[in-house]
Amino acid sequence: MDGKFEEYLKKVEKGMYDIFPSEILPQGDVIKAVKYSLSAGGKRIRPVLTLAFCEMCGGDPDNALDVARALEYMHTYSLIHDDLPCMDNDDMRRGKPSCHKAFGEATALLAGDALAILPFEAISHSRTISSDAAVKCIGRLARCCGMLGMIGGQQIDTCPENGIVPDGLITSVYRMKTSELIDAACVCGVFCAESANESVYVQRAAEYAENLGIAFQIIDDILDVTSTDEVLGKPVGSDEEQNKNTYVRAYGIEAAEKAAEEYTEKALASLDTFENNGFVKELTGSLLKRKK
Ligand code: IPE
Ligand code: IPE
Ligand code: MG
Ligand code: MG
Ligand code: MG
Repeated sequence: MDGKFEEYLKKVEKGMYDIFPSEILPQGDVIKAVKYSLSAGGKRIRPVLTLAFCEMCGGDPDNALDVARALEYMHTYSLIHDDLPCMDNDDMRRGKPSCHKAFGEATALLAGDALAILPFEAISHSRTISSDAAVKCIGRLARCCGMLGMIGGQQIDTCPENGIVPDGLITSVYRMKTSELIDAACVCGVFCAESANESVYVQRAAEYAENLGIAFQIIDDILDVTSTDEVLGKPVGSDEEQNKNTYVRAYGIEAAEKAAEEYTEKALASLDTFENNGFVKELTGSLLKRKK
């Protein structure tokens, strides 16, 4: 799997900054902050999923590169804002000082805003997908990241003082804050393939993303308790400090591990519809065992 992951990764990274202005501008700080957060690293799971889903649907993954990068821009915005003092108040991200620690809050806020808008520019300017596919990608991404998606989840997550989230709602918060962006990554990959079988693929990709996202967030919550700052590249214990309603807090580590396995199994089952699904199956399994 590593070879394939590296191959996708290299392609994503290569053109990641082509969209940025090369001249020195008076607003240079916000551009620096955006590049700082993007280039700090990160696993790049979402853009890799976009390319992989495009390929699994018979498309050429090279055609999905602008869209894949757009997913990483959007994800990085969500992390910059997630770390702000008014949100999770975390000082480290991707092994470096968080954006607001390095550039100040106002610039970090603006860097996040810039990265939330950049995906739409990147996708609408892509020369490797049809206008039809571009409109579908833009629509999906916007919906997934909006009030009914990621932002909705972040709102509930950020206000735990509103009370313990009742049973069953924790996973619906995870669905919004984490699965939705993964949904956009996978489904936009399907759109880029422009397959005759698109509607079935979209449905399966959405099911996959829903379950993978929940498993992914549960593992993130487990690592927040069991890992170290050095390994994770972000502060552990943040959830407890912020009094978050997490799966781990509600049910304990053992039950959380079991649930992550179950959601991963469900995600894997949705992949059977796709041909050449070996890489995504392996990737899905490896995310369950990830250490960061
Ligand atoms: C972190 O996402 C935020 C969550 C949804 C849990 P990642 O774990 O994918 O973060 P990076 O991109 O690797 O830094
Ligand atoms: C973040 O969840 C989800 C986002 C939409 C960014 P967390 O707050 O648990 O993510 P980390 O642990 O800070 O990466
Ligand atoms: Mg958070
Ligand atoms: Mg956080
Ligand atoms: Mg976390």
